[in-house]
Amino acid sequence: MRPFVHKPVLLAEVLAYLRPRPGARWADGTLGGGGHAAALLSASSPDGWLYGCDRDGAAIEAARQRLAEFAGRCELRQESFSGLAGWVPAGSCDGVLLDLGVSSAQLDWPERGFSFQADGPLDMRMDPSRGPTAADLLNELPAAELADIFWQYGEERESRRLARAIEQDRWQRRFETTRQLADLIARLKPRQGRKTHPATQIFQALRLAVNDELGALRQGLEAAMQILKPGSRMAIIAFHSLEDRIVKEFGHVRARDYEFDGPVDVPELRRPKRPELLVVTRKPVPAGPEEQAANPRSRSAKLRVFEKVF
Ligand SMILES: C[S@@+](CC[C@H](N)C(=O)[O-])C[C@H]1O[C@@H](n2cnc3c(N)ncnc32)[C@H](O)[C@@H]1O
Repeated sequence: MRPFVHKPVLLAEVLAYLRPRPGARWADGTLGGGGHAAALLSASSPDGWLYGCDRDGAAIEAARQRLAEFAGRCELRQESFSGLAGWVPAGSCDGVLLDLGVSSAQLDWPERGFSFQADGPLDMRMDPSRGPTAADLLNELPAAELADIFWQYGEERESRRLARAIEQDRWQRRFETTRQLADLIARLKPRQGRKTHPATQIFQALRLAVNDELGALRQGLEAAMQILKPGSRMAIIAFHSLEDRIVKEFGHVRARDYEFDGPVDVPELRRPKRPELLVVTRKPVPAGPEEQAANPRSRSAKLRVFEKVF
């Protein structure tokens, strides 16, 4: 088996905020290579326990090997974290971690189709055994739906023009490879001094759509609330503004001491309520300069921590 390479980001910060101690129970909804999970189990020796899941079977395999020394102190499942509350007992956890997005290993393996850096099939499924691939969406969705995906999940300003061009292109040849898509976008949208590849936003948008990542995140945050003990914390690491906005809004709404009906917050119509959460990190915590220099992936990481009140 190829090595599963992934350096956990913000590790020291996650440990400091989650305050590991012997006997603590953790849920890691994004096991990846098991780096964070191993650190949490080690710091809660000799009897800390971890419920861990990942959608990706290759990640579960890697985490199983990484956590072999903690056998008997963890339960690992190939599942989405949106379903954590279905198998982790309610109110049982002293800390929940969601380290969102994809791992370096997933990006590095061309056959997973997440990256335009190497050529591979346009797949992008975190769980390759289910659901449509990125190629399925590109080849089958009407241009208007593709444009919505590019705009909503990639904040791509030229979403309509690019979607129409894709619709025309696929008459001649179906989309099959990452290179084919990256080259088409590069032709349609020259770099013009930008540092990032012109296809970056389109690849992000397709990945979020294929895996319904934002829907899973909303459900995962609700699940975290259910499985945490009162007084315990969730730590969420986001890698782009769409994820971070959802995490921030989730904390903001639950930390309020009032509620209201309907979409508009009219101060006169507020009803008092007990805050369910405490916002522990007023601002998102970035990786320090040393980590950013050593691990470029950490440059876009933002950690937010909330504490469940009751
Ligand atoms: C950044 S990596 C996590 C790395 C991990 N913390 C470590 O130390 O190695 C993100 C992982 O989350 C997984 N993932 C993303 N969305 C998920 C979801 N909704 N449910 C479960 N796993 C998910 C991905 O498959 C990937 O393995």
